[in-house]
Amino acid sequence: RIKVAVFASGTGSNFQALMETKSLACDIVLLVCDKHDAPVIQKAKANGVATFIFDPKSYSSKQAYEQEITDRLKAASVSWVFLAGYMRIVGSELLTAYRGKIVNIHPSLLPAFPGKDAIKQAFEAGVTKTGVTVHFVDEGIDTGPMIQQQEVYIDAAATLEELEERIHQVEHQLYPQVINQLLQNEG
Ligand code: GAR
Repeated sequence: RIKVAVFASGTGSNFQALMETKSLACDIVLLVCDKHDAPVIQKAKANGVATFIFDPKSYSSKQAYEQEITDRLKAASVSWVFLAGYMRIVGSELLTAYRGKIVNIHPSLLPAFPGKDAIKQAFEAGVTKTGVTVHFVDEGIDTGPMIQQQEVYIDAAATLEELEERIHQVEHQLYPQVINQLLQNEG
């Protein structure tokens, strides 16, 4: 079985959705989290997934904490990294160690609305459709080669909360699908 890590900073609904996907073609062996009070940590513990929780401020540099993350990934025989609401820019240390093996999910049709609060950004911009993008990670913020997108239409009467719920539902079914496709191609 292919071993993977999930990186997350927040609620962890995508992490939970991956955990609940019985047909997922890999084992999630490690959660990496940069916020000691993030709800995703409890979700990992409840699922018996090992955690590496770090405080970026206690390291001298991004390179220093990413070196430690890389060591832990290697120690756990992790071959792919899936970002699920990891709200940090991935640096050269991790990108070099896991070239082409770091994937992100983002709640907009990139390149539209990168960065934080993408659902709200789209809602407030008044666009008629937004969506979800899964893409390979490079040194930018929500840039890198696209793997798959799914559109979500914004009903004129919908509230931001309704749109958020719809987008999250799409994320929760799209991410496991795309992950399985990627891992299948790996043979
Ligand atoms: C998700 O909507 C994910 O796409 C987004 O953070 C949310 C995390 O939710 N990621 C980004 O915005 C990356 N730029 P979750 O913690 O409930 O999975």
